[in-house]
Amino acid sequence: MGIALRCSDLVKTYGPPGGPSQTVLRHLSFEIAAGEWVVIMGDSGSGKSTLLNILAGIDPFDSGELFLEDRSWGALDDEEKTLVRRREMGFVFQNYNLFPFLTVYENVALPARLNGRHDREAVLSLLREVGLHDKLHKFPSQLSGGEQQRVAVARALIHRPRLLLADEPTGALDHLTGRKVLELLTLLHKEFRPTIVMSTHSLEAARYGARILHLRDGQFVPPPGS
Ligand SMILES: Nc1ncnc2c1ncn2[C@@H]1O[C@H](COP(=O)(O)OP(=O)(O)OP(=O)(O)O)[C@@H](O)[C@H]1O
Ligand SMILES: [Mg+2]
Repeated sequence: MGIALRCSDLVKTYGPPGGPSQTVLRHLSFEIAAGEWVVIMGDSGSGKSTLLNILAGIDPFDSGELFLEDRSWGALDDEEKTLVRRREMGFVFQNYNLFPFLTVYENVALPARLNGRHDREAVLSLLREVGLHDKLHKFPSQLSGGEQQRVAVARALIHRPRLLLADEPTGALDHLTGRKVLELLTLLHKEFRPTIVMSTHSLEAARYGARILHLRDGQFVPPPGS
């Protein structure tokens, strides 16, 4: 199996040059296989979102290397990064981040449209899978949190991205609703086989992944209590 992501000696520090600084990631090295579902766990402030933003190419890092498949993120310019994000990545966030003025249908169709591959049947079929085919013309504000997150999951996968980055996807949901979203993700992971990197605080949510990486003091550490 191929490698989806490879990181070596990644360092990320926040703060102005010469001013007070905080090193959040300290020489992180890891590999994630294509199609694998990896979970990042760690206390609040441990750097989970920072790491996901770096993997998405949104935030810069100070040193080290990051490869997406065989391409070095550091070697791509902003335009190339935008294209990689648009074509190859899907995103799910804690607060859904749907476009408030677009309907459910239009939210899900958007990434396919941006890639010039809009197919009405494909959008409808995915909306059926996430159980929202009867809410096509609703706006996000007319949906519950769990419904909004199911729209977000459909939007993240409609263009069949190779990598799905999910930052606390169940963080805003109650236990049962969160579980439904994760079960949906499990189903779609089997169907589409994207590589998934998901952060969570919840051990129960983490169990949906195949491998858990524990982030503490800027490094991956053995699980607590082991
Ligand atoms: N843009 C920024 N500028 C300065 N410091 C930042 C910035 N973003 C994050 N930090 C700091 O980096 C550390 C890691 O933050 P991050 O958001 O990655 O943690 P997290 O593990 O996602 O936390 P949570 O579980 O609360 O979401 C925190 O101490 C935070 O204050
Ligand atoms: Mg976070």
